[in-house]
Amino acid sequence: MALRKILTQGDEQLAKRSRKVEKFDDRLHTLIDDMRETLENSGGVGLAAPQVGALRRVVVLLDVNKDPEEMVELVNPEVIEKRGEERRIEGCLSVPGVYGYVTRPTWAKIRAQDRNGNWFEREGEGMVAQCFCHETEHLDGHLFTERVEEYVDIEQLQADEAEEAE
Ligand code: NI
Repeated sequence: MALRKILTQGDEQLAKRSRKVEKFDDRLHTLIDDMRETLENSGGVGLAAPQVGALRRVVVLLDVNKDPEEMVELVNPEVIEKRGEERRIEGCLSVPGVYGYVTRPTWAKIRAQDRNGNWFEREGEGMVAQCFCHETEHLDGHLFTERVEEYVDIEQLQADEAEEAE
């Protein structure tokens, strides 16, 4: 396994549409393993293959609701059902230090293949539904900044919250 470099906003790879995965071979498995290691090392909750310069429809993410240690691998993922709406603060490993409010579904269902090509479905609420949407949008060349309704100063927000908690 190897850590891969995370591309940042402005890199043209991030604006391209990723290709569907057709071969579930060693090359794919190496990419997924590298993405797992890269995500783990980053402290983030989700990573899409174009963020490491591989234009293939692959995502790894943490299901923080079920088991924050479990990394979910999604090949050719598609959000097939959404319910509700909520405004949530969002960020992205490819846009370091930038956070903003985005409207996302409160619940979403995703359909994807595993690393061997088997189809499955998975549901997520809150931050996980948000992550399903955010990561699949990367595969179509979109960044969350296109959806931000209001940017937030995360340091100020944390300071306010700390003050409120006192
Ligand atoms: Ni992102």
